[in-house]
Amino acid sequence: MSNYYGGITGYGKAVPERVVTNEELASKIDTSDQWITERTGIKQRRVVGDHEQCSQLATDSARKAMERAGVSADEIDLIIVATSSPDFLTPPVSSMVQHNLGAKCGAFTMVVGCTGFVSALITADLYMKTGQYRNIIVVGVEVITRMVDWEDRNTCVLFGDGAASVVVSRKKEPCGVLSHMMGSDGSGAELLILPSGGTKVPPSHESLDSGQNYLKMNGREVFKFATKVMGQSIEKVLEDSGLSKDDIDLYIPHQANARIIEFAIKTADLPADRVYINVHKYGNTSAASIPIALCEAFDEGRVKMGDKMVFVAFGAGLTWAACTLQLPE
Ligand code: ACO
Repeated sequence: MSNYYGGITGYGKAVPERVVTNEELASKIDTSDQWITERTGIKQRRVVGDHEQCSQLATDSARKAMERAGVSADEIDLIIVATSSPDFLTPPVSSMVQHNLGAKCGAFTMVVGCTGFVSALITADLYMKTGQYRNIIVVGVEVITRMVDWEDRNTCVLFGDGAASVVVSRKKEPCGVLSHMMGSDGSGAELLILPSGGTKVPPSHESLDSGQNYLKMNGREVFKFATKVMGQSIEKVLEDSGLSKDDIDLYIPHQANARIIEFAIKTADLPADRVYINVHKYGNTSAASIPIALCEAFDEGRVKMGDKMVFVAFGAGLTWAACTLQLPE
């Protein structure tokens, strides 16, 4: 490895125009604002219209991140898009984003559920440490509401759409990912699954009639798993980085559910005022949740250059990942 680092130099988000409130859902299915708020902390979510797609949200967010970083298309050397809801199973949405941006570089898509953005950022950081890349765009994007059964109150109240990107730029001074960990336990594959649409159960009249084309989730089991791995993952990356809880300026956990985040704050004994929560505004945007939160944290002045942060995510797979990182000065 050479003495290079990857620092976040730009960020940008793009969320659908349409806001769907708990009240609107309660007018259509058997649920209530009170139930959703108490169990999840979610008050509203963004939902794509016909004119909005995964590739386009990803592109819009990447353009904003590039503008902020002052990076042009020909200065980008790699694009990594984390998503589980691409425009198509093939071609990879990352190539559509590369084409839209006018970049002439490699691009690939990472499918790691809600853990996608953290996994992609860790990957980008390792590429940067080779010293061979100038700028890498990392995108977290989901159009997950198109995979949800809007009559299934167990799932549809939880999710929302959106995208956010960062530009990771080559730096000589130490910054970027300081420690990381990734976990996977495929024995929990069925706890959060889209049964049909892949090659095992191709779309058919039968699969559509039985609703296999919609996301299925065992909420209670996912809740137990999430609360277990969040605290453990934070402890592990802090220990590996040599940082203490108080050294961290802001913790950004995956925004799936405010109760899961509150549980993690308690079990890992985190300073609550330094844990970012915006799940009430967007619901669970899966791979987009941490970068959207990062964009808002920047805009609200909750983080500034030079700060140290922790990202921690969990999701389908089951998978989980965390990192400590430092923003460049
Ligand atoms: N409105 C009203 N009632 C509801 C709703 C709803 N939207 N959804 C479920 N209920 C009912 C259930 O039917 C059940 O009724 P019953 O007791 O008559 O059978 C009752 O509420 C309680 O259901 P539980 O599932 O026990 O509710 P719980 O307190 O566990 O909360 C929840 C459910 C919010 C889904 C919780 O389990 C959770 O947050 N799990 C984690 C989900 C998650 O984060 N998934 C994504 C992670 S991975 C990723 O990000 C892609």
